Amino acid sequence: MDNLLDFSEKVALITGAASGFGKSLAEELAKRGANLVLADFNEEGLTLTKQDCETLGSKVIALTGDIAEEAHSEELVKAAVDNFGKLDIAVNNAGIAPKLGPLVHLDGPTLSRQLDVNTKGVAFGLKHQLRVMAAQKEGAILNVSSMAGLGGTPMGSSYGAAKHAVIGLTKTAAVECGPINVRVNAICPFFTSTPMVDNPTMNPNDNIEEVNKNLARGCPMKRIARVEEIVNVMVMILSPANSYMNGIAIPVDGGMSAM
Ligand code: NAI
Repeated sequence: MDNLLDFSEKVALITGAASGFGKSLAEELAKRGANLVLADFNEEGLTLTKQDCETLGSKVIALTGDIAEEAHSEELVKAAVDNFGKLDIAVNNAGIAPKLGPLVHLDGPTLSRQLDVNTKGVAFGLKHQLRVMAAQKEGAILNVSSMAGLGGTPMGSSYGAAKHAVIGLTKTAAVECGPINVRVNAICPFFTSTPMVDNPTMNPNDNIEEVNKNLARGCPMKRIARVEEIVNVMVMILSPANSYMNGIAIPVDGGMSAM
């Protein structure tokens, strides 16, 4: 296999692997030879991803838990080391969208949960992943931020705050850990057709195609992204051949950030 796409013998930890980006990335890395530690609090979805990845030839450990709890991040890293002897790659991807509304109506529980899951989940993930990678003197971490981490997020202030913090953590980790050969980057996707965006329980009366058309209106490419368009970039960022990219927050946004 071309070394840009060869993940044989690599051990990758992915949070939020039951659905959307996390599920698709797990399958892409499994196809390319990686063994996996997969996490999510959706046990049913996680089991399906595990089965798919095993069918593709990967050895998989799957653990359920709430990524907002530090102990869960620690448990995931320990599972990688106990089962596979190392951790080469970590993708801090699990995340939630808030109920949308103007900043003047922001409530404490919404803000707290956003920061607990979308920011602390990444911060504690980094803490425990970096400890193992520091000892190995090697590793690559990808944090999933958002376009909301790069600019204002009208009607989604708590999400925007949490995703900006992910970029701050990414840059700090990259600078602290560059000297020990651990790369830490973030990806900032525009709206993408995953269950988070298409979920009919979030917008039970909406026509999803219409909603997605509206989301895409301001985007130069006039459409939201397909999952594989984001996941392909994730694979490139994590590629063992991509060994000098460190500390950046990469927009994958159909040209939004060029406007
Ligand atoms: P998704 O909803 O399909 O997947 C997210 C996964 O994270 C789900 O399986 C969910 O069960 C899991 N999860 C959520 N909270 C958790 C917790 N506390 N503990 C453990 N697992 C938890 O959504 P999607 O779109 O794949 O989202 C993945 C990441 O991408 C998130 O961080 C999201 O904020 C980010 N993102 C998504 C965009 C989109 O338009 N879909 C755009 C930009 C960023």
